[in-house]
Amino acid sequence: VTRVVLIEYPPYGPWDAEADAVERAGGRLEVVGYEQFAATPSDADVVLNAFGGALPSALLDRLPNLRCAVSFGVGLDWLDIAEATKRGIMVVNMPLANVEDVATHAFALILACSRRLLELDRSVRGGVFEWPRSEPLHRLRGRRLGLLAFGNIARIVAKLAVPFGLSVSAHDPYVAPDAMRALGVEPAELEPVLSTSDIISVHLPSTPETRGLLDERLLSLLRRGAIVVITSRGDVYDPDALLRAVSDGRIAAAGLDVFPQEPLPSDHPLTRAGNVVLTPHVAGYSEESIRDLHDTAARIIGAVTSGAKPPGLVNPEVLG
Ligand SMILES: NC(=O)c1ccc[n+]([C@@H]2O[C@H](COP(=O)([O-])OP(=O)(O)OC[C@H]3O[C@@H](n4cnc5c(N)ncnc54)[C@H](O)[C@@H]3O)[C@@H](O)[C@H]2O)c1
Repeated sequence: VTRVVLIEYPPYGPWDAEADAVERAGGRLEVVGYEQFAATPSDADVVLNAFGGALPSALLDRLPNLRCAVSFGVGLDWLDIAEATKRGIMVVNMPLANVEDVATHAFALILACSRRLLELDRSVRGGVFEWPRSEPLHRLRGRRLGLLAFGNIARIVAKLAVPFGLSVSAHDPYVAPDAMRALGVEPAELEPVLSTSDIISVHLPSTPETRGLLDERLLSLLRRGAIVVITSRGDVYDPDALLRAVSDGRIAAAGLDVFPQEPLPSDHPLTRAGNVVLTPHVAGYSEESIRDLHDTAARIIGAVTSGAKPPGLVNPEVLG
């Protein structure tokens, strides 16, 4: 019997689809919190990680039977893939389940920042029914959108930008320039994207190369009046440097869904900056994306428990 353990993140529950899939294979799904999972040795064969908490080598040592680790989404920053491969563990993710939702959210943040939506809403509620003439609004048509990374989410953002008349460039050293040009996107190096774009949308995954990448120096390259939107991972930017840039007016606004520390402390200075739109790591959420994640998880469990290659296998070399 295959032992399947799910490290839960309550907002994604209930876990009926996963439980049914495990039962069909003659087993029973065990749902645990991350703290409990990390504290107790387990004979799990399959771990589904909905919480996204790290599985470092020391923890893998206590999972002697593990043969498949599944990410409940695209992110794989909680596991060292090379280390898992060395141990013969299949690493699986769900790369497409919520990409449209994140792209929509990124674009919603772009629109909210460029139209100063939340500030105007607060102003009307505060009894001030006026145009924000000291902080001008700009038409999107003709402005430049710069994408950091050009994966599945950034590609959808690039498509959404077309009807707004934005011209789009992107920096992604792992995507062929012609693949960008085929989608009407201009390939560029990192620094020129930062220094020539009016709007930057960040879709960088968290990797050793990207952690802390958007620091004081790189943020200082941004155009005066630029807008920065970050929906990928909270450890790719320095929030203090970003806060300084918005507070002193060098950049016009920021839209942030992800933070180095989550939940963002309610007294964090970002919560007091007027021209910052904050959302609680919700970009991937919609009822439809949750359903897609559960359906995909059930298909992965079905494949692994029957000895088939699971969809979304990241390291097929483990199968030999
Ligand atoms: N906020 C949310 O709720 C939410 C939901 C889903 C995903 N995400 C995040 O969004 C990120 C992007 O998702 P995706 O589906 O587009 O992933 P993806 O795997 O399709 O694309 C990631 C892209 O990043 C590129 N990349 C890697 N290192 C780079 C670097 N140093 N410089 C430039 N580009 C680099 C890769 O070449 C790849 O094209 C995910 O890694 C995840 O962390 C957030």
